[in-house]
Amino acid sequence: MGKQVEPLGNLPAETTNFIGRRHELSEAWNSFLGHRLVFLVGPGGVGKTRLSLQLAAQRNRNFEDGAWFVELAEVRDPALLAGAVLAALDLREQGAADAATTLYGHLKDRRLLLVLNNCEHIIQPVAKLVSKLLKESPGLRILTTSREPLGLVEERVVPLPAFALPGIDDTDLGRLRLNEAVQLFVERVGAASGRFGLTDDNRIVVVEICRCLDGIPLTIELAAVRTRVMTPERIRSRLGQRFSLLTAGSPAVLPRHRTLEAAIAWSYDLLDGHERRILRQLGVFAGRFQIEDVEALRRDPDSEAGTADVLFSLLDKSLVVRDLTAAFPCYRLHESMREFARLRLLESGEAETVSGRMTEHYATKCGQFAAEGRYRLADWLAWTEIEADDVRAVLAEFR
Ligand SMILES: Nc1ncnc2c1ncn2[C@@H]1O[C@H](COP(=O)(O)OP(=O)(O)OP(=O)(O)O)[C@@H](O)[C@H]1O
Ligand SMILES: [Mg+2]
Repeated sequence: MGKQVEPLGNLPAETTNFIGRRHELSEAWNSFLGHRLVFLVGPGGVGKTRLSLQLAAQRNRNFEDGAWFVELAEVRDPALLAGAVLAALDLREQGAADAATTLYGHLKDRRLLLVLNNCEHIIQPVAKLVSKLLKESPGLRILTTSREPLGLVEERVVPLPAFALPGIDDTDLGRLRLNEAVQLFVERVGAASGRFGLTDDNRIVVVEICRCLDGIPLTIELAAVRTRVMTPERIRSRLGQRFSLLTAGSPAVLPRHRTLEAAIAWSYDLLDGHERRILRQLGVFAGRFQIEDVEALRRDPDSEAGTADVLFSLLDKSLVVRDLTAAFPCYRLHESMREFARLRLLESGEAETVSGRMTEHYATKCGQFAAEGRYRLADWLAWTEIEADDVRAVLAEFR
């Protein structure tokens, strides 16, 4: 196949404005001058995935064969790693060759940027794959994101910190408007609740919210979205109470992951019973899901709220993310949210029932695929594309 018909990548469209990070974007890009493997490392929710997408989109044209994004958050089994990269590249295993061999063969003479997102849980297999890929494909550059580095000599680690905190005593509106945490909060409040700008009247409350949330983008977004139903003052005081409970007995600043956890728990506690129930049930999905998959987990005939309504409400609150890359409307949880939902599901004592229903649901769907696949292949392939990680997760239980 000639290079001119090669697709230029699979980067998902961004649905919200990207804020700041000029320094980190150029640091990450400049790191590629001396290294072929750049590693974005930082705590949960800090913006690693978002930054990697932004960088890939900005630099796509520097790569003849494009920039490709591979989501690894759902890949738990090392044996499926190479296959997941192949699938993201829109390729399949060929004939007798296994996924890894096909992958090495395909990438050998390409000039492309591969983004491997969320590698923390399969760090060793990723390190092995990446080492071999870099050796065999001189035109390849790899950008990875993870909460910890791979530990390879070739890698250049770029730490991604939270946004700098705005000064509590800063009265200069111009300077505060340049602060990334403030910008993100103001922008997301505007998107959620209509026009919103930083003024002398709301300056202190906005700064306090950003500071209390440690400048972590995910937590700032969760709080901003709440302004639909709560004033910023109310958010500040509720968050204040919550965090003072957490720090009771120890005046030390909360570590970032506790802030994130607490902010997610705060949003969760503000949900109604139906929403909470569905959100924690969503923790059983390994990857993307569609509305009908969520419906299959629910068998409470007395429940009044429709599943779709609840899902849309969670979407509205930024607790569920819409995935725009697939052929059908589908959704996912942010990685930190999924971890949280899983824990809550385990605590609720419903985990076994819910995963039983999930298994049953996917078994039925796979049975339908077997029966209809011959004459509705295109539909079913699109379905597999979205649901493969969930099917794998179900299969893994039977190993
Ligand atoms: N620079 C930014 N501009 C706008 N939004 C951002 C920015 N950075 C992060 N966000 C938003 O914050 C949220 C968390 O970001 P992201 O998913 O990139 O975090 P992460 O570091 O990859 O987290 P995890 O370790 O859990 O995978 C997302 O909704 C993202 O859109
Ligand atoms: Mg991420």
